[in-house]
Amino acid sequence: MPKVQVVYASRHRGTAGIAARIAEVLRSEGADVVVVDAVKRPEASGFDGYVIGSGVYIGSWLKEATEFLERNQSMLATRPVWLFSSGPLPGSSKATNTTDPLTLALGPEEGPGSGGRRKVSSLSAAIHPRDHRVFLGAFDPNDPPKSLQERLVRLMPASKQILPTGDFREWDAIEAWAREIAA
Ligand SMILES: Cc1cc2nc3c(=O)[nH]c(=O)nc-3n(C[C@H](O)[C@H](O)[C@H](O)COP(=O)(O)O)c2cc1C
Repeated sequence: MPKVQVVYASRHRGTAGIAARIAEVLRSEGADVVVVDAVKRPEASGFDGYVIGSGVYIGSWLKEATEFLERNQSMLATRPVWLFSSGPLPGSSKATNTTDPLTLALGPEEGPGSGGRRKVSSLSAAIHPRDHRVFLGAFDPNDPPKSLQERLVRLMPASKQILPTGDFREWDAIEAWAREIAA
């Protein structure tokens, strides 16, 4: 039975829910799966494959997720790895001239606002994952902000446009991707 580690970074549990669903599908397809929050600084060794995902905030993966990739970069480079980003919210992206999911979530490859994207890209280049999938996220304005940055964004006059309210997670696409991984 292949052993798979699913590692996620999540502030408001949206990405945690995606990770749990991926794990459920992988288990139903016969894998032995461990799901773990990146904030616990999990040990990565001892698995046959890895699914690693993060919620996206202001064009960046959460630091616990990039730190997991950094800490385990050389080992992950020798194993099958799948990455996913959770975000954007429909219509929230500033990048209106593209349909590229990574650009919609993490911003441009270069130039202003590309720091978060470049960080994930350089880790990806070292690890060469089999895939990096982007899934729409969720936003509940009643769930209090978890960082100063988030508090400030929510206070902006345009926040209603930037942060559409709702749970937009694409369960069918998420499950189909997990079945692809299992295959
Ligand atoms: C303050 C704030 C900033 C966000 N910035 C981005 C962003 O730059 N790109 C993106 O794709 N999604 C962005 N989102 C949407 C989140 O990625 C989405 O809500 C996701 O589901 C959050 O995952 P989590 O619940 O696991 O923390 C942002 C959400 C908030 C609240």
